[in-house]
Amino acid sequence: MEWIKAHNAFKSRWDKTDDDMCRHSMSFFLHKTIRSDFFSSYLFLLEGLPLVKLFALTSEVINGEMQFYARAKRFYDDVPATEEGMMGNYLELNSIDLQASCVFLRKFVGGPGKADTVYALDCGCGIGRVTRYVLLPLFSSVDVVDMMDNFLFEALSYIGKDVKKVKDYFCFPLQEFTPPIRKYDVIWIQWVTGHLTDKDLMLFLIRCKNSLKNDGVIIIKDNVGREGCILDQTDSSVIRDIEILMDIIEKTDLQIICAEKQLDIPEQFVPVWMLALK
Ligand SMILES: C[S@@+](CC[C@H](N)C(=O)[O-])C[C@H]1O[C@@H](n2cnc3c(N)ncnc32)[C@H](O)[C@@H]1O
Repeated sequence: MEWIKAHNAFKSRWDKTDDDMCRHSMSFFLHKTIRSDFFSSYLFLLEGLPLVKLFALTSEVINGEMQFYARAKRFYDDVPATEEGMMGNYLELNSIDLQASCVFLRKFVGGPGKADTVYALDCGCGIGRVTRYVLLPLFSSVDVVDMMDNFLFEALSYIGKDVKKVKDYFCFPLQEFTPPIRKYDVIWIQWVTGHLTDKDLMLFLIRCKNSLKNDGVIIIKDNVGREGCILDQTDSSVIRDIEILMDIIEKTDLQIICAEKQLDIPEQFVPVWMLALK
């Protein structure tokens, strides 16, 4: 691509400008923001990536993509492979969460124009809590994916009697994972979208879309903040507000067919939303 050379030449000139001039001539933060907007727009022109504003937004918040992912990995190294670990120590939400998920899922599976109940994928599955209680009671087969091999190993015993219906255990970070083409009726993504940058989440959803069968559906269930995009330093994740999350989804060409805030989550917890996408 001939544009790339111009892009790289510009990029190094701009970096130099950082040190030599702009540090003294305007707010450094403002300068950095303008610069990342500039390069995001440039990326849009070069690669046709439709994400312009949002990519810059999360990049500012997380302060470096590699650190963001490395810190999350370090956090989960110390998380026990238990239900408490998966629930971030809020075990009291476990059954409320599972019950609402089962009710939500049933709206989109079984019946004309709805998803089949043959094959589901659980993304960021941890030890397989959602697989065990939400997906296996409905689907003939389930695949699971998580970046932590110890969680996947624990899933073998945690899931219990239906474990033979779990076919593939993919040990991958979602930002590097491509699910097989047109394989799944339902792709479940719970409490893990905040571990992906805007751009990686958008690209992952596009790959998931390609992995759905006819009438298949993607379900996102996650914490949703009241305003903006906030970094949680403890587990290195971001909590997005619903507009930001919906903006990212819009860029994937998936349609939001249903979006519900879970109403029985007690006030003191971050609101949890469930979205069905086609
Ligand atoms: C809060 S736990 C939720 C587990 C499960 N979804 C549930 O609801 O019980 C978050 C899970 O996401 C996984 N995870 C975090 N970042 C990830 C990434 N970038 N790629 C794949 N898995 C990731 C963690 O290893 C962990 O198992």
